[in-house]
Amino acid sequence: MSKRPITISITNNKGGTGKTTTALNLGAALQKKGFRVLLIDLDAQGNLTLATGCRQPRHHAGELLMDEASWEETLITGPTVHLIPASRMLLSYEHRLNAEPDSGYLLREQLENRPYDYVIIDCPPSLGALTFGALSATDWFIVPMQGENFAYIGLDEILQCAAKVRRRINPGIKLAGILMNKFDLRTKFGQSVYQKLSANPSVRVFNSSIRQDISLMECTAFGQSIFDYAPNSRGARDLMNFCDEFLQYTNQHETSQVI
Ligand SMILES: Nc1ncnc2c1ncn2[C@@H]1O[C@H](COP(=O)(O)OP(=O)(O)OP(=O)(O)O)[C@@H](O)[C@H]1O
Ligand SMILES: [Mg+2]
Repeated sequence: MSKRPITISITNNKGGTGKTTTALNLGAALQKKGFRVLLIDLDAQGNLTLATGCRQPRHHAGELLMDEASWEETLITGPTVHLIPASRMLLSYEHRLNAEPDSGYLLREQLENRPYDYVIIDCPPSLGALTFGALSATDWFIVPMQGENFAYIGLDEILQCAAKVRRRINPGIKLAGILMNKFDLRTKFGQSVYQKLSANPSVRVFNSSIRQDISLMECTAFGQSIFDYAPNSRGARDLMNFCDEFLQYTNQHETSQVI
């Protein structure tokens, strides 16, 4: 029987909400706990690829999905990270994937029987074929949001996209939660945004949030996770607390039906 690693998509069609930062550092946190982790960069900006220190990948995720490169040719295995990288070329592949009748199944099939505990997919800031393919392979999706007042605008589109994926391809997809980024949930303002978001019954917000921390910005520029770059920083503490909550919640809700 085939089995896929637990697959997590980090998604938000809004740009700059912290998807790449979350993908890199949740992956590193899980790895620190002893799990085998694979990162997949599905964004043509290639920010996750750069953030792992990889400058010029020979092949990219689009070639893998279109059968133009093998898994072995595409996978990069460094001392701290395993990565399926992205490149600018992914943009044109997204158009080609749109034309494939079974594009939603391509990534899902690639992940079968791979030797990892967790796969983390960094999605582009759009809801096109690449995000659809990612969600089709996903057990849990996480939506990082900036904590500004209107953070919830656009959320419906993501939830509708996930609902479509759930109906058509992947009945097992579940929202792990919304992750408030650059934000302090302990402030009065934080509490009011939290309450507004939580009023939506199809939404779950993580109790942990990621506060603004310059180290989180710097670590990606230096090609390191926050745990290597600044292990005693606020960002490292917040990310580890978030990882603990993620593990606790997903372990508890593994089999029950949640949205
Ligand atoms: N908690 C934080 N504290 C400080 N800087 C942060 C934090 N989270 C993210 N950043 C910075 O904000 C910018 C956007 O973050 P990031 O690249 O993770 O967002 P994204 O959602 O992946 O963006 P895109 O939609 O363009 O892919 C980056 O410069 C990142 O370093
Ligand atoms: Mg990004």
